[in-house]
Amino acid sequence: MTRSAKPAECLATAFGVLMCCCGERVASAPGFETCADLPEEATSGIRPAAPGECEEIAVDLLRLVDETHGVPFDCVPADLVELSQATRRGVLLRREAAASFEPMAAAADDAGLRIEANDGFRSVQEQCAVFAKKAREGIAAPPGFSEHHLGLAVDIDDAPKRWLDDHAHEFGFVESYPAGAESCTGYPAEPWHWRYVGPAAAEIRRRGLIAHEYLSGRSCRGTPLEP
Ligand code: DAL
Ligand code: ZN
Repeated sequence: MTRSAKPAECLATAFGVLMCCCGERVASAPGFETCADLPEEATSGIRPAAPGECEEIAVDLLRLVDETHGVPFDCVPADLVELSQATRRGVLLRREAAASFEPMAAAADDAGLRIEANDGFRSVQEQCAVFAKKAREGIAAPPGFSEHHLGLAVDIDDAPKRWLDDHAHEFGFVESYPAGAESCTGYPAEPWHWRYVGPAAAEIRRRGLIAHEYLSGRSCRGTPLEP
């Protein structure tokens, strides 16, 4: 559990802003304007990375991110690329995830279905704005606790769910928040939110797990975790 900012720290953020926590809330530091209006409990998990943490995250496709496992605000992936199959400009995923998303969209297209991303990577600051809008519906993670910070999660506009259920694993994607798993994931069903985990997606499906069970190593629906 990492939901408190370390006091007495000054560091350069990935956005080139010198952010000083020195006794003040991180959310009200320069560069965090979108976070400043949120209640303190929503922003108390915003924190900088520990030494080496961003490097670990950068090579980890299986990082668990949930209500208690967060992502430091300064771990912005260096290999973000723009998706061409998107409803707008500027939808970004990490290179490997994007390289799987585009053929998935093409395969859906061959089946007469449309897969278009409407959101991908989100900075912690951007998540503040999303949280401000959607928290009441229970469908937004607090800033610092969204899979979108990894650059591995994509929101698919009007997702063709049945096709994705059958085929997304072939492209390394899993549904993060399936129906009936709210007590495991912490969120109601989000049929639009898919997470890239690479080859593990096929294993998750073969073993009848949900992504949260696989990534946390903890069974939460009574399904045995053993292969
Ligand atoms: N909608 C998911 C939980 C997020 O905000 O990351
Ligand atoms: Zn999402």
